[in-house]
Amino acid sequence: MEENISKIKEEALNEIKNSEDAKKLNDVRVKYLGKKGELTSILRGMGSLSPEERPIIGSKVNEVRDELEGLIKQREEEFSKLELEKKLKEEKIDITLPSKKVKRGSKHPLNRIIEEVEDLFVSMGYDVVTGPELETDEYCFERLNLPKGHPARDMQDSFYITEEYLLRTQTSAVQARTMMANEEKTPIRVICPGKTYRRDDDATHSHQFSQVEGLVVDKNISLADLKGTLEVFVRKLLGENLELRFRPSYFPFTEPSYEVDVSCFKCGGKGCNLCKQTGWIEVLGSGIVHPNVLKMGGYDPEKYSGFAFGTGLDRLAMFKYGITDIRLLYQNDVRFLNQFDRLDR
Ligand code: DAH
Repeated sequence: MEENISKIKEEALNEIKNSEDAKKLNDVRVKYLGKKGELTSILRGMGSLSPEERPIIGSKVNEVRDELEGLIKQREEEFSKLELEKKLKEEKIDITLPSKKVKRGSKHPLNRIIEEVEDLFVSMGYDVVTGPELETDEYCFERLNLPKGHPARDMQDSFYITEEYLLRTQTSAVQARTMMANEEKTPIRVICPGKTYRRDDDATHSHQFSQVEGLVVDKNISLADLKGTLEVFVRKLLGENLELRFRPSYFPFTEPSYEVDVSCFKCGGKGCNLCKQTGWIEVLGSGIVHPNVLKMGGYDPEKYSGFAFGTGLDRLAMFKYGITDIRLLYQNDVRFLNQFDRLDR
C-alpha cells in the first residue's frame, strides 16, 4: 500500500511539473485530490485496512496530499504571474505615438472683432448695451432727428414690417433707447454692437450686417474727446501706426458730423486696389450729438453735450482679415471659417 502511495506521489509530482497551463494543472488536481481522485479513494478505502495499518497509511496519505496541494498552489501562482506578464506585454501602450488630432471649432471673425471692440471700450469705462433688432420707426429714425418725410431717410433702404415697425437699419436706434432708459439723466458712456438690416446685396453689402454704435453724453464733451477716442479705437483694432482723417459729412443725428478715414493699411497711403488709389479708407461715421437728439432723449442741451460714432463691423473684419466678399461672413462655410483656427493657437 505504501508503495502504491509513493507511486501515486511520483506520478502526481511529474504531472504537476509537466502541466503547461492552469487548466491542465486543475485536471491533475481533480485526478489525484478530487472527490474521486486516486488519493481520496485510498482514504475512502481505509475501512478495509487492519487497525495497525490505518494510522500509518492515513498519515502518509495526508502528508502526500498536503505536499501535492502545496505544489499545485505554487504552480498556480506561477501560472497567474505568467498570465499577468503576458497581458501586460500585449496591452502595452506606446505613449510616444503621436495622438489623433482633436477637431475643434474656431471663433467666427465677426465675433472676434466684437469681443475685441468690447474689451477695448470696457477697459475705457464703457458699458455694453443692446437693443431690439425689430425696431420702431420712432427709435430708428424720429428720435434721431429724422422725422417722417425727411430726405435723409432715403440714405437707408429699410425693411418695413408694418408702418411703424422695421428691422433696424442702424444701431443708432440704441442711442435714443439708452437716453430714454436713463431716468436719472446721468452721464452715458456705452457701446452697442449688433445686427442691422438694409435692402442691399452685393460683394460689399449684405442685407444683414453688423454695426457697433458708441455714445457718450456728459458735461463739456467736445470734438477733442471724440477724436481721441476714435484714434485709440482705430489704432488698437487695426494698427498702431495708422493716421486718421476727419472729413466733414452729414448725419441727421450729429452736428457737426464727420466721416473718419484711416490711412490704407495695405499700402500705407501710397495708393492700391484696396483704397482705390486714394491712400485712405473710410471706416466710421461720427459727430457731436445733435441738440434735438439730446432734447428728445430728455437731456438739456444747454447743460449736456455728447459724441456718437458708428461703424460697420463687417467692414472692419474684412479689412483686418483680408476678406473680399462680405457674404462669406454670413454663409458659415467651414472651408472659410477653418482658416481662422490658426488665430487661436
Ligand atoms: N448710423 C450711421 C450709419 O449707419 C453711422 C453713424 C454716423 C453713427 C454718425 C453715428 C454717428 O453714431 O454719429 O450709416
